[in-house]
Amino acid sequence: MSTQRSLPTPATPDLLCTSDRGHHQATNDHSSQQGSSKVHKTDPRALVVVETSYTRLAQTVVTMLESVRYKHRLQVTSLVSEGKVLPSLTRADRGRFAVIVFERLETYLGLDSWNRQLLDKYCRDYEVGIVAFAQPDDMLYDAQVKDFPLFIHSKLSLTDYSVSSETQVARIARTDKTFSGRIPGSSWTVFVGNHSTYQAVARARLGHSVPNDNNKLSTEIFQVDSEVTPVLLDRGLYDGVRRIYFGSGFEFWLHRVLFFDALSFLSHGQLIQMLDRFILVDVDDIFVGRTGVRMTEEDVKAMVETQTQLQNYVEGFHFNLGFSGKFFHHGSEQENEGDDALIANRDQFWWFGHSYSHTKAHHFSSLSAIMDDMLHNQDFAHLHGISVNNSYAVAPHHAGVYPVHSELYKAWRQVWGVQVTSTEEYPHLRPARYRRGFIHDGIMVLPRQTCMLFTHTMFFDKFPGGRQRLDHSIYGGELFQTILYNRVSVFMTHMTNFGNDRLALYTFESVVKFISCWTNLKLKTRPPLELANYYFQLYPDETDPVWSNPCDDRRHLEIWSEKKSCNRLPDFLVIGPQKTGTTALYTFLAMHPSILSNRLSETTFEEVQFFNSNDNYVRGLDWYLDHFPAAVLNGSLLFEKSAAYFNSEPAPSRVSALLPRVKLICILLHPAQRAYSWYQHMRSHNDRTALSHSFFDVVNASSQAPKSLRELRRHCVNPGLYAHHLQRWLDYYDISQLYIVDGEMLRSNPVATMHQVQKFLGVQTVIDYSQLLRYNPRKGFYCQVLQQHSNTNSRTNSIKCLGSGKGRNYPPMDGKSTTLLKSFYRKPNIMLSELLAKLGLGEPDWLRQELTDS
Ligand code: A3P
Repeated sequence: MSTQRSLPTPATPDLLCTSDRGHHQATNDHSSQQGSSKVHKTDPRALVVVETSYTRLAQTVVTMLESVRYKHRLQVTSLVSEGKVLPSLTRADRGRFAVIVFERLETYLGLDSWNRQLLDKYCRDYEVGIVAFAQPDDMLYDAQVKDFPLFIHSKLSLTDYSVSSETQVARIARTDKTFSGRIPGSSWTVFVGNHSTYQAVARARLGHSVPNDNNKLSTEIFQVDSEVTPVLLDRGLYDGVRRIYFGSGFEFWLHRVLFFDALSFLSHGQLIQMLDRFILVDVDDIFVGRTGVRMTEEDVKAMVETQTQLQNYVEGFHFNLGFSGKFFHHGSEQENEGDDALIANRDQFWWFGHSYSHTKAHHFSSLSAIMDDMLHNQDFAHLHGISVNNSYAVAPHHAGVYPVHSELYKAWRQVWGVQVTSTEEYPHLRPARYRRGFIHDGIMVLPRQTCMLFTHTMFFDKFPGGRQRLDHSIYGGELFQTILYNRVSVFMTHMTNFGNDRLALYTFESVVKFISCWTNLKLKTRPPLELANYYFQLYPDETDPVWSNPCDDRRHLEIWSEKKSCNRLPDFLVIGPQKTGTTALYTFLAMHPSILSNRLSETTFEEVQFFNSNDNYVRGLDWYLDHFPAAVLNGSLLFEKSAAYFNSEPAPSRVSALLPRVKLICILLHPAQRAYSWYQHMRSHNDRTALSHSFFDVVNASSQAPKSLRELRRHCVNPGLYAHHLQRWLDYYDISQLYIVDGEMLRSNPVATMHQVQKFLGVQTVIDYSQLLRYNPRKGFYCQVLQQHSNTNSRTNSIKCLGSGKGRNYPPMDGKSTTLLKSFYRKPNIMLSELLAKLGLGEPDWLRQELTDS
């Protein structure tokens, strides 16, 4: 066991403001800056002009914008120089952008006068500011800038950087601090403005070394140690446009903070960062660890002391301890005293329950087995006086949280009354900036962030990359940025990080002091339930989960039950639309020896309706999987048909999240005929609106008509806007994954249709449907041929047609409705024809005829 017990001092004591303890200062409120009402966009976003999307700076800018969930559009500069970007700025993008970011100052300053005028006009008209970054290889140095009373000097090294106390730009950045010594970044640019419009955002001193020998002018103009301006604000007094120039990219961590401040200032507070940052530090497995690396009484004392320290910097801070009672007193004598010390100090901490045996939920045989284990842990808590009342739990190795193991959620609710959990796995571990929360079965799942302290991270020299790497992460690197970017950060640590070298104490004490020293962020901790309510208030769009395929993520697969299988997911879907012959196609497909369909849903009669119905979708993946046979023979294809998928708004993105490689089949029938069939369907289901209105009344209903009539009209006509719906699917799927069945042909020649469908699906054995389907004159449609064995062992055939609800008898459509719908669908049909041509697909006869007739 290590003997190193005192908290190591940071590399530069200045970094933690040990003298002033990081008192907060008043911050600038960018939203109250002067600006007219035209400034405020409904959906503010940044335009990011980059040389290519692959440069490091471009990627950092995009990563930062995504990390704080700012919308943006990337524009590659070659288009700017061709003059393509700026005209579009004044038309389609009118007033859309709140700020424009140039990855290269050189590109911005080098715009030709036509483009510059357009851009300046856009910026003046919509009060949009510009941020631009000088790059080490820019050609603009030691020169006055064309059109501006501004001088630029480059290839410099800097020391002693501080954010100017008089700048209004600083909001998150503190202005009363100097970062001493050499400033990271090998080649800095500084600015000298010769007009009252210019104001320093940051100041620094010229360093001793000037890397480029040719850079004579810089040393002639500036003495070493003289004050220079590495970040400059143009207040717009010269030409009406506000700009902020950065003399370097993000090698210097403080520029990340200043970049957000610049966005917020230049967008009049539309792209603003709130100052509150909530952090929760979970100490999972507080009793779990092998002998030799567990906590001692001294470690517990240090933990309590550090917690008290942290409370000076983080309002309401408490370590949040998770326990598995089975491992209590499983260490050496000294370590068991550590366990006792934790119990003795139990009221100092927050506690959350875990499984008693630290077992993954899906390794238990049943819900009651999971519950028994949790109840056991609850008994342990009672026995030791631990009060567990924060409605929170986490799962060993994230197992069961995502991908969801339904029984875990049920057990949590029933045993502990859990309302909140957290995971790093939703939707995926990486990239971390895309992690999100969701709510399932009444439990709020918060995204968890990484602080790089894992069970095995116990000693400074064993930290991946060593102490230097850890310090880098704390002092402006990953950990600092995680707290900067996320309003709510839930971190996971382990008992072993608190024993041994006490890495966790060092890490959190250092990072919160560093943040308090250099920023005006207000750090806070709240109990998980309060935190989760706050999170979902901030991000209400995240409540509904999007289920993805566990087999597409190695980590998900590792924490998924061995009893569940992706083989149970469909290979293809018949997506509709309704009333085009989907039941006939479903029935014919299911006749194929190597095609298996879903089992019929109890709630929706035949269709699963998972992706279109919110009620079903929230039930989760386990519910969906249960609709498919458990054992599927190799080479067989699995499918389901839900005809409402075709025109459902959320279906394409949901289907593609779970089934990115699935094949899709849709059927297109004359849209007016489809609408009429739906109307007849509703009448035969005794729908009061359909019974009391003629078809013409329905399709002719105006926006003033009663709701029920408008709804019926919507169901009749909307699915027939085929091009619109197809395009939504093609936003997610390649055309090679989609097959369009001609609904007329399915009726009149199902044998040929089924031959083509089999070819598209790539079934192992293509069967001849001419033996299996026969036209039935009484029904007026093709029906199934059923083979029966008689007593004499000879075979007889019988016919099975679809039920009375399919292929109904009703009078032909009236003339007025035919004319109205012909005109209504004209444009959508032209769009469909154009789309099919673009996709290289043939037109169905009904479409060709319809467009020729009109
Ligand atoms: P109608 O009942 O209005 O004639 P869905 O199964 O998607 O609800 O579509 C029902 C429609 O399928 C029927 O509408 C019918 O026209 C068409 N259809 C196509 N082939 C069929 C078949 N072999 N048997 C019955 N209906 C068929």
